[in-house]
Amino acid sequence: MAKTPPTVQPEPLKLGFLASHGGSNLQAVLDAIGSGRLNAAAQIVISNNSTAPALERARKAGIPALHLSEATHPQGVDRAIAAALQTHGVNLVVLAGYMKKIGPAVLGAFPDRILNIHPALLPKYGGQGMFGLHVHGAVLQAGEQETGATVHLVNHEYDRGAILAQTRVAVLPNDTPETLQARVLQAEHRLYTATLQKIAAGEIRLKAPR
Ligand code: GRF
Repeated sequence: MAKTPPTVQPEPLKLGFLASHGGSNLQAVLDAIGSGRLNAAAQIVISNNSTAPALERARKAGIPALHLSEATHPQGVDRAIAAALQTHGVNLVVLAGYMKKIGPAVLGAFPDRILNIHPALLPKYGGQGMFGLHVHGAVLQAGEQETGATVHLVNHEYDRGAILAQTRVAVLPNDTPETLQARVLQAEHRLYTATLQKIAAGEIRLKAPR
C-alpha cells in the first residue's frame, strides 16, 4: 500500500510591527493569531511615538513593545529599528499606520519582506501627504464611486512597491471623510489579515528571508 507522504506544517511567520498611532490593524492581526486563524507569531511592536495606543495593545498581549525614534536614537534610529527587528527574530515586517519613512538599514535587512496597508486603491491617492483623512477627502473631492484598501510591498518610495492585494469599498452619497475612513478601516482589517493568511499558507510567495 502506498504510504501517504507526511504533511509538512509551514513555519509560522515571525512578524514585527511598526505603528505610530491607534494600532487597530495591529489588533486585527493579533486577534487573528490569537484565535488560530493566522499561522504567525508577533515578535515585537515598535513605535516612533511613546504614547501610541499600539504599544499598549502590544503590552497587553505580552509582546515586546519598544519606543524607537529620533528622540531615543538621534544618531541612527533606522539602524536601531533594523537591529531590534533582527534581535527579535522577525522575518516579515508589517507596517500598521507607521508615519515615518522606512530607512535603508531596515529596507536592506528585509528586502521585499516589508508590507504596508494604504487606505485607497493604489496607485490612486498615494504618495507623500496622502495619509489619514487627506486620502478620504481627496477621494470624495474627485467624486469617486468607489475606493478601498491596498496591501503592498515597501520600497524607498512612498506607496510605490508591488501591490499584493486590494479590496473595494463603495462611496455612499452622504459620506464624509470620517464616515468613509471608518468603513475603509474595517475593510483594511479584513484585507491585512487575509493577505497575511495567504502569505503564511504560501499562496502569496515573497522573497525568502535574508
Ligand atoms: C490605516 O488607515 C492605514 O491604512 C494607514 O494608517 C491607518 C492606521 O490605522 N496606513 P490603525 O493605527 O491601524 O488604526
